[in-house]
Amino acid sequence: MTRHSSALDAAWAALRAHHAGLAGTRIAALFEEDQARFEGFSASADGLLMDYSKCRLTGETRRLLLALADAAGVTGFRDRMFAGEPINLTENRAVLHAAIRAPKGAGFTLDGQDVMADVLAMREACFAFARDVRGGKIAGAGGAFTDVVNIGIGGSDLGPVMAVEALRSFHDGPRLHFVSNVDGAHLADVLKGLDPTRTLFIIASKTFTTIETMTNARSARAWLARALGEQAVSDHFAAVSTAREKVEAFGIPASRMFGFWDWVGGRYSVWSSIGLPLMIAAGPERFAEFLAGGHAMDRHFREAEPKKNLPMLLGLIGIWHRNLCGHASRAIIPYAQRLSRFPAYLQQLDMESNGKRVTREGEPVATVTGPIVWGEPGTNGQHAFFQLIHQGTDIIPVEFLLGAKGEDDPALKAKSIEAASGSREDLAFEKALSAHQPLLIANCLAQSQALMRGRTLAEAGGNPHRVFPGDRPSITIVFERLTPFVLGQLIALYEHRVFVEAAIWNINAYDQWGVELGKELATKLEGPVRTGEGLDTLDGSTAGLVRRVRGE
Ligand code: F6P
Repeated sequence: MTRHSSALDAAWAALRAHHAGLAGTRIAALFEEDQARFEGFSASADGLLMDYSKCRLTGETRRLLLALADAAGVTGFRDRMFAGEPINLTENRAVLHAAIRAPKGAGFTLDGQDVMADVLAMREACFAFARDVRGGKIAGAGGAFTDVVNIGIGGSDLGPVMAVEALRSFHDGPRLHFVSNVDGAHLADVLKGLDPTRTLFIIASKTFTTIETMTNARSARAWLARALGEQAVSDHFAAVSTAREKVEAFGIPASRMFGFWDWVGGRYSVWSSIGLPLMIAAGPERFAEFLAGGHAMDRHFREAEPKKNLPMLLGLIGIWHRNLCGHASRAIIPYAQRLSRFPAYLQQLDMESNGKRVTREGEPVATVTGPIVWGEPGTNGQHAFFQLIHQGTDIIPVEFLLGAKGEDDPALKAKSIEAASGSREDLAFEKALSAHQPLLIANCLAQSQALMRGRTLAEAGGNPHRVFPGDRPSITIVFERLTPFVLGQLIALYEHRVFVEAAIWNINAYDQWGVELGKELATKLEGPVRTGEGLDTLDGSTAGLVRRVRGE
C-alpha cells in the first residue's frame, strides 16, 4: 500500500510551483529586500546557531516546507520514535538511540517497560571499566595500559574514531588507536611500536560476526599471544557487543563485555558502550557532557516549534535542495580540524540511513531520496575541490561548521602564562597560535560569501575564466567551542535531520539491506581468490580479475 494523501500531493505541488516562481531571484537580492534576513533565517538551540539565510529560499518557502512536514506527519512520526514504537518496520525494531544518551528518569519505554534502568546500568559498568583502565586498576601484564586499540568497522568505528579525534583537547587517558580495514596493513601499522604488555584491545561489533572485525580481532589475538601466551587474552581484551555467546567463545569473559540493544542501530550507537574508547580517552565525566549535548538536542527537537527547530529546518532545507532544486550532493565542511572525521561519520549516518529506493511499504519511491554526502575540513578543501564548488557545472549546497573559539583557546592560555609569568618563548608560541583562529573564521565566512556573491564578468575584467556565477547556497552552523556537549548537539542534530528527511520521503532510515549483497558475494569469492578454483562459474570480468591478482 502506498502512502497517499491529497494534502501531501498538494504540499509538493505548491512547493514545485513556488520553486518555479523563485527562478531568477538571486540569494544576494533577498538580503537587499530584507535587512533583517539573518535574524529571520537563522535559529539557535542551546548556544548552537544555524544560519540558513544564504540559501535561496523565502519566508513562503519555509511556510510551504513546514506544510509539507505537516502533511507528511513528521512530528507524529517523531513522537512514535520517542515512544519506542517499532518504526524500523523491516526489522520490527524500535529506534531508541535517544534513550542511550538520556538521563535518569527520562521515561523511555519499550513494550511498556522502562528501558532506562538497563541503559543506566550499562553506562555505569562502562564508566567503571573506563575509570579502572585510566587509573591503572585494570592493567596489562606490564602495568597500566598505555595504549588502547579499538577494532570495529562502520558504526562500531566511525563514531568513536570521529569523537575521540574531535575531543582530543580533553584527552587525559591512554592513547587511542583504531583499526577498521580488513587490509592487514591497517592492523600491522597500528601495532607497530605498541607494547603488547601494556595494550588493551576493544573488539567492537554489535553482531560479533562482521568478517573484517573478526579477522582483525583474531590477528590481534595472535599478536598478543605471540608475546604473552593465550592465557593473557582475557586480561588484554574487552568487547562491545550484543552477542554474548560469540564474545565468550572468542575468549573474552562476560565481565568484560559491554552490551547494547537491537533497538540501537550501529550508526546511532556512539552514545552507548560503543563510546568506550572516548570514555577511556577523556573520562566518564566528559562523556556524560557529550551525552547531555545529545539529550539537549533531543529535547529541542521534541519541544521547539517547527519554525525554530534546528533538525526540522535542516531536514526541510535538505528536502528543498534535493527534491525541488535537484542538487544531488551536499558537502559538509568543518572549519575545525578536529572535526576532520565528521564528514566520514555523516556519510554513514546519512547515506546508510537514507540511501533507499523503496518506501516503507516496499513501493518504488516517487521522488529522489538521500543525496551524496561528502566533505573535508576547511581550509584544506579550499585548496582542493572548492574550484568545482565555485565554478563547476553542478551546484553543491555546502554546510559549514565553525567554532567561534579554537579548541585549546591559545588566547586564554597566553593570558594564564602571562599571569604566571611563564617563559617568553611559551608566550610567543601561544600568541602565534592565537593568531590562527581569526584566519580560520575569515576563510570560512569568505567561502560562503563568495558562493553567494560570485563575481561578474565586468568585475572579472571581462575574463570568463575568472567569473564566479555565485548564487550558490550554504548553511553555516556556529558553535562557541568544540566541547563534549557541543559535539553531542551536532551529532544529534544530524541524526534528527536524517529522520526528518526519511519521514518526508516515507523510507525506513533504520535498516541497511544495501550492504548485504556485497558481503554475501565476498564470502563466496574468498575460496576462488585463495585457491583459483571455481572460476568457470564467475562472469568473465570477475574471473579475469581473480586470475590477475593470483598472477595466473
Ligand atoms: O556494513 C553494515 C553494518 O551492518 C553497519 O551498519 C554497522 O555499523 C557495521 O556493519 C558493523 O557491524 P557490527 O557492529 O555488527 O560489526
